[in-house]
Amino acid sequence: MGRSSRACSVLGSALLLLLLSLGSAAAQKGSTWKTLSGKAPAIIAKGGFSGLFPDSSGNAYQFVGIASSPDTAISCDVWLTKDAVGICLPNINMDNCTTISDQFPQGKKTYNVNGVSTAGWFSVDFTITDLQNVTLKQSILSRPYYFDGLWPIVPVDAVLSQFKVPAVWLNVPLDSFYSQFKLNMRSYILSLTKQYIVDYISSPEVNFLTSISGRVSKKTKLVFRFLDERSIEPSTNQTYGSMLKNLTFVKTFASGILVPKNYIWPVTPDNYLLSYTSVVDDAHKAGLEVYAAGFANDFAISYNYSYDPLTEYLSFIDNGAFSVDGVLSDFPITPSEAVGCFSNLNDSKIDHAKPLVISHNGASGDYPDCTDQAYQKAVADGADVIDCPVQVTKDGIPICMSSIDLMDVTTVATSQFATPAVTITDLKPVPGVFSFNLTWDDISKNLKPMISNPLSKFQLYRNPRNKNAGSFMRLSDFLAFAKDKDLSGIMITVEVRI
Ligand SMILES: *[C@@H]1O[C@H](CO)[C@@H](O)[C@H](O)[C@H]1NC(C)=O
Ligand SMILES: *[C@@H]1O[C@H](CO)[C@@H](O)[C@H](O)[C@H]1NC(C)=O
Ligand SMILES: *[C@@H]1O[C@H](CO)[C@@H](O)[C@H](O)[C@H]1NC(C)=O
Ligand SMILES: *[C@@H]1O[C@H](CO)[C@@H](O)[C@H](O)[C@H]1NC(C)=O
Ligand SMILES: *[C@@H]1O[C@H](CO)[C@@H](O)[C@H](O)[C@H]1NC(C)=O
Ligand SMILES: *[C@@H]1O[C@H](CO)[C@@H](O)[C@H](O)[C@H]1NC(C)=O
Ligand SMILES: *[C@@H]1O[C@H](CO)[C@@H](O)[C@H](O)[C@H]1NC(C)=O
Repeated sequence: MGRSSRACSVLGSALLLLLLSLGSAAAQKGSTWKTLSGKAPAIIAKGGFSGLFPDSSGNAYQFVGIASSPDTAISCDVWLTKDAVGICLPNINMDNCTTISDQFPQGKKTYNVNGVSTAGWFSVDFTITDLQNVTLKQSILSRPYYFDGLWPIVPVDAVLSQFKVPAVWLNVPLDSFYSQFKLNMRSYILSLTKQYIVDYISSPEVNFLTSISGRVSKKTKLVFRFLDERSIEPSTNQTYGSMLKNLTFVKTFASGILVPKNYIWPVTPDNYLLSYTSVVDDAHKAGLEVYAAGFANDFAISYNYSYDPLTEYLSFIDNGAFSVDGVLSDFPITPSEAVGCFSNLNDSKIDHAKPLVISHNGASGDYPDCTDQAYQKAVADGADVIDCPVQVTKDGIPICMSSIDLMDVTTVATSQFATPAVTITDLKPVPGVFSFNLTWDDISKNLKPMISNPLSKFQLYRNPRNKNAGSFMRLSDFLAFAKDKDLSGIMITVEVRI
């Protein structure tokens, strides 16, 4: 990340002030965007500010105007009721995101949805009047439930007319499904486009987009949505994975594609980032814009991003090789920052007269505390000052160690030194193996560092591949390391005196 990220975190802490001057995210900058148009990437608030308020609620849509850059668009997944009214909801099963099952306990049905038998409460079984007392709730259960049951379902035409937003994105998850209910999604969408400006229309169904292509305003961008690579696209009977190799075909009916973010930056099952794919390049070569979906600040992101969602956005929009043309986010304020403040920074122009950044046990979020690797990463990440908490060994050698009890940050528990553990109530209420009872050789030759996991009780673990990485440092090693680095200083802390 380098120094640019540090300069920006200062901006980030003054975020509210900053937003007032964000303006059209990157308009003020000399453009170096590697998007198809050369313009700044678009930001689309998925279902409004759905990370905080129930997805597709009026409040989620309204909040985008308050807490995102002013060019942020809002999106709505369109479903049809029994009486052909379009409504916005994040899931085909209304029970996932509304109080429908309280109002209509008998309303559960099973339908064939593009070849998959699916059970739930479906919009096609209810009229808009039936739904008047049904309210929205959070579909992601880890998010705040305080706003559940408060607000009604929002009709699509309200999204197009009632919110002060610069652009609206309608996603049509299903088209052919509706014919079994004598409903017609195509007619509904075309009637909307006669009354309102719809900036984007996306769908995962080729036939739907083909059937409206040429019948909507030239200003409306038609976007083909890729689902999971192994799922079958219902009109062509091909997998989305194979359609990805046929982008010239996609270009015949769409101006862009919407892909899950892992199409671009795949991750391993254990959540490490692989090299980026050629999707953005291929699509840009075919003349297609690329929109990436699946961004949220509270989803587990790859360890490579050090738990920092901003870094993730930057890897999609400002990586030196390509930029996606837009991102769909549940927390649009974060891509607003990424686009408006943290992209295209030129290190040599950054004013370094900013508050000091002091590491805490080195880059201890990525590597075990106070190891050579933790300090190397801290320097690479742009810390001004690196810190060494000093403990002393039995043979009188000062070492950098974040705890006097080696149980906390080393593998001593599984070593020959695990016993006898001693209780020194002045230091700790429970038994420990203390640095002053082992020599430097005991420690450096027999033990390994252990990454700290302060939030393990919430099942949040730090970089597991690095959990025993790196080597211990004596104070003298630390001083030698720091000597030729571009630092403002070092910080030595003495936490316990014997
Ligand atoms: C909604 O609630 C109102 C007031 O309780 C009631 O009069 C109305 O019948 C309800 N509508 C439906 C569809 O349940
Ligand atoms: C709703 O659906 C989403 C997406 O499939 C899922 O992640 C979530 O857990 C579901 N929520 C509930 C309350 O069932
Ligand atoms: C691309 O897809 C179209 C429509 O399914 C098909 O007719 C065509 O053969 C495909 N081309 C390639 C190269 O796969
Ligand atoms: C799609 O493939 C399935 C199974 O291979 C076949 O039964 C079906 O007729 C195909 N549909 C179309 C539209 O080609
Ligand atoms: C992500 O981190 C892993 C483990 O440190 C590393 O092997 C991999 O190369 C990184 N991925 C990228 C794209 O840098
Ligand atoms: C960064 O800024 C410096 C000084 O203004 C300039 O010389 C350099 O060319 C710039 N680099 C880039 C990549 O824009
Ligand atoms: C640990 O060190 C203290 C202080 O030097 C000493 O009093 C104690 O006996 C030692 N305990 C063990 C188990 O080595």
